[in-house]
Amino acid sequence: MFKKYYIYLLLIVGITSCDQKPQLSETEQKVETLLAKMTLKEKIGQMNQYNGFWNVTGPVPEGGDAQVKYNHLAEGYVGSMLNVRGVKEVREVQKVAVEKSRLGIPLIIGFDLIHGYKTISPIPLAESASWDLEAIKNSAAIGAKEAAAAGINWTFAPMVDITRDARWGRVMEGAGEDPFLGSKIAAARVQGFQGDDLSSPYTVAACAKHFAAYGFAEGGRDYNTVDIGLNTLHNVVLPPFKAALDAGVKTFMNSFNDLNGIPATADKYLQRDVLKSEWNFDGFVVSDWGSLREMMDHGYAKDRKHAGELALNAGSDMDMESYIYHEELEGLLEEGKVKLADIDDAVRRILKVKYELGLFEDPYRYLDEAREKEVTGSQEILDGVLDMAKKSIVLLKNENKLLPLKKNGQKIALIGPLAADKNSPLGNWRIGAADHSAISVLEGLQAYNGNTIKHQQGVKLVNKVPAGFHEEVSINETDRTGFAAAKKAAAKADVVVMVLGEYGFQSGEGRSRANLDLPGLQQELLEEIYAINPNIVLVLMNGRPLVLNWADKHLPAIVEAWHLGTQSGHAIAQVLYGDYNPGGKLPMSFPRSVGQMPLYYNGKSTGRPGADGEDKGSVFWSHYGDEENTALYPFGFGLSYTSFNYSDISLNASEMTATGSIEASVEVTNTGTVEGKEIVQFYLQDIHASAVRPVRELKGFELIDLKPGETKKVTFTIDEKLLQFYSANNTWESETGDFNVFIGTDSTTDRKVTFSLK
Ligand code: BGC
Repeated sequence: MFKKYYIYLLLIVGITSCDQKPQLSETEQKVETLLAKMTLKEKIGQMNQYNGFWNVTGPVPEGGDAQVKYNHLAEGYVGSMLNVRGVKEVREVQKVAVEKSRLGIPLIIGFDLIHGYKTISPIPLAESASWDLEAIKNSAAIGAKEAAAAGINWTFAPMVDITRDARWGRVMEGAGEDPFLGSKIAAARVQGFQGDDLSSPYTVAACAKHFAAYGFAEGGRDYNTVDIGLNTLHNVVLPPFKAALDAGVKTFMNSFNDLNGIPATADKYLQRDVLKSEWNFDGFVVSDWGSLREMMDHGYAKDRKHAGELALNAGSDMDMESYIYHEELEGLLEEGKVKLADIDDAVRRILKVKYELGLFEDPYRYLDEAREKEVTGSQEILDGVLDMAKKSIVLLKNENKLLPLKKNGQKIALIGPLAADKNSPLGNWRIGAADHSAISVLEGLQAYNGNTIKHQQGVKLVNKVPAGFHEEVSINETDRTGFAAAKKAAAKADVVVMVLGEYGFQSGEGRSRANLDLPGLQQELLEEIYAINPNIVLVLMNGRPLVLNWADKHLPAIVEAWHLGTQSGHAIAQVLYGDYNPGGKLPMSFPRSVGQMPLYYNGKSTGRPGADGEDKGSVFWSHYGDEENTALYPFGFGLSYTSFNYSDISLNASEMTATGSIEASVEVTNTGTVEGKEIVQFYLQDIHASAVRPVRELKGFELIDLKPGETKKVTFTIDEKLLQFYSANNTWESETGDFNVFIGTDSTTDRKVTFSLK
């Protein structure tokens, strides 16, 4: 088969090279014309990205580093800038590039638009809990609209890293642990950011990051080494990147980690072989921040020059903030260490995206003060982030129908360090948002005026030295002086709402944790309040799965509210009062202990699984002596104010061939008293294969709305493509044999049938 394909390829190449020149598109022709005019220095300039270096509202730099960089801008030695934002600022730098440099090539302006620009939507992990692809796409689109109105044309998002280890702080930026859900969400986000027309001033180019395997940092410690084999790389890590590519993503970002000993920035297999050859990606790859330079710290590049050589040869097209391409590529070319063809290729890719963004047609097309004013914080965007926030909430526990709360005549004690916090709900990665600009839970509850609300912090927030663009705090670990007042409020209340979790910057880049419990004195406060009034609704704000054993065992109601962004408090209040029936499902498993990390539902079986209790009497099976293997709250788990009943699964056939298909159906009924949303989940298990397959894998899901008493039939189609995996032959293929089908309300469902691929 391979031979045949190879001969066919040779034939095509032969035909194109002998008989006809490949047809260039209009954009490609423009790129070629421009490239032909460029000096080597100008070409290398396109591959150089600078962080904002000058306060552009002040005078033009005179002297020092900023002066040098300003000159580079004016000489056409800078292709892109990041962290320059707002029409006024962007115009200033764009003017220098366009009006002062010889060829007037516009800059592409990059920015970490991760979950909203100024108006903040839920953190990506939270949005992923909605499983609502339309809502997620819309959230990306409104974020793009607001950012593009501020002069930005390129976001460093979506982060599509699969994350299995909650200790890693960056789990908040992704879509969780599952490659299927992650792929769907990656595509939705790309489509949302880029829209149908990249040259529209309401859209931005997207960037799939971090290529690749950054989410597998050992021990969950950020920037740490990654060691995984081809099986996990292709079956788990790469699918969301491929989905982003298929959705048309214009750029990729490589990653800080080394993968099996090779820093991703210098990984030729990933960037040239897989991405640019096998997948035919025709956009460009940007390095991560300073990742060229960091290859020296990795112990991989011997000096800056060597780093430049390794990065370019491996296929990294743009250097973010190392200045290595700018300083070293010319010399490397003279020495024959890099090829002009590779420099040209990188420049072509970068220019192409700039053309597609419409920047050559009008370098100021994203720069319109009136539009900026009209779009920023508009009602449409506020409504969009509120809608997304409600859809992101996951109800983890609700005993005795404590929720929804009654709207009138209740005494509510609202307790916790995050209850009135207007900053934490914005989460991490919200560079453009003003500090303290979120609606707090207190404000959200106050918008309903039928109850009396007594607020007490209980545990204080401690101010920290600012660690970046924003004000930071931590949660107090020693000061119990607020406990007494909180207990007094709880004693008099009908219901206690406790808002606990992580402060906004406790997750995100560089924010790994070795513990996954409630930080500071929060657990102690919770237990003391419980002793006085156990009628507690715990509202969690966090950027990662936490260990919640005590809360799960004792409290009647738990609401996972993540960091939900600008409209947080309204979303939470509407859920607590039942004006919105929560329907989110967890995109990551919540562990029972940090010792279970990494924890994910779609692991492989072992030779000693202890299935059906067979080995459980003994010691010698794969387990912990002091903890369950399972998650406390599994992937796909989430409750509703109503309940659902599932029928058995019916298959329309029990066998199929590679050209056929099978339909698997269930009937789902709303057995409760209110309308609700259910996410029907469909999992497959390839029982025996040439390489061991996961115990089950998500392969489909459908969101349905059901009125009380209503039943809907949900059908999933199984075809050969769905059964493919990266096999022991190092290729995507299916293998004949038996498969289990599971359909249910979360990843632990035992509703199962079997079919065969013949
Ligand atoms: C992060 C990237 C981010 C870049 C630019 C890096 O530290 O890893 O995800 O896009 O900075 O801000």
